[in-house]
Amino acid sequence: MSRIIYINGAYQPYEKASLHVEDRATLFADSVYEVIEIKEGKQVDSEAHLKRLCYSMSELSIEPDFSIRTLPFIIKEVIRRNRVKNGYVYLQISRGRAARDFIFPDPATTPTSLIIFARSKNPDILNDKARRGIKVITHPDIRWKRPDIKSTALIASVLARQAAKDSGADEAWLYNDKGFVTEGAASNAWIIDKNQHLITHPATSEILKGITRDGVMRLAKEFNLTYQQRPFTLEEAKQASEAFITAATNLVMPVTHIDDCPINNGQPGPVAQKLRSKFHEFAQLTA
Ligand code: PDD
Repeated sequence: MSRIIYINGAYQPYEKASLHVEDRATLFADSVYEVIEIKEGKQVDSEAHLKRLCYSMSELSIEPDFSIRTLPFIIKEVIRRNRVKNGYVYLQISRGRAARDFIFPDPATTPTSLIIFARSKNPDILNDKARRGIKVITHPDIRWKRPDIKSTALIASVLARQAAKDSGADEAWLYNDKGFVTEGAASNAWIIDKNQHLITHPATSEILKGITRDGVMRLAKEFNLTYQQRPFTLEEAKQASEAFITAATNLVMPVTHIDDCPINNGQPGPVAQKLRSKFHEFAQLTA
């Protein structure tokens, strides 16, 4: 079956779906996006993702020329047409197509561009990976100063992820000028200290406020685990009793090594594994 992509009002075959060269997503990364997990045909926490999409657009003064309320229907249709049972859906909204100019085009004459596609992913592969845990490297955080906006200006994250891959790791933990870990290249970073406190960077403008991160906080309350939102150093991370990352594409993924330094015994930790196994029970699943 050929893949179908929604682009600006039409469901297009994969080969035909393309953005104009002068779309502002192409020229300026003047666009925002979301990635929503699909679990057994259901969207995971999609309301929260769409809310964050609105936040990203409003911070960049992107005014969509369609109602956000139509998005759940289009998303559902994209999932249906692509027969995705497990995987993810990707949404991107750009300020639209206009002659190249740094100044915003007139929203009255420039419709925003909307792209939605969905991809299948075999959950067994990810679950196997979670049983082994992943390695992360550390990398300077050279991103722009507003990663709280989920914009497609991702080159710094691309470079960090590539550096991780080149070192045989799966993710890069980014550290700021003060030596604190902000987050992963495409995930939030967590540690658990010797007192079993979960620790993650506060949701300031230095990180993306992950939807999976919020889910873990809900779970922590459910299981009477304490969590702290505070910056932590690389040194603290290497001394932690557990470490993990969270993202819609990874859920809760145990981290066993940071820069080749084993975390505790170098095995996935029990708390991270429990959070992973219980995650969907406490998430919002939308048919
Ligand atoms: N990225 N931090 C960054 C920088 C991210 O790119 C992501 C997710 C997260 C986790 O957010 P959430 O839990 O809402 O997925 C944190 C997505 C998956 C991506 O870009 O593919």
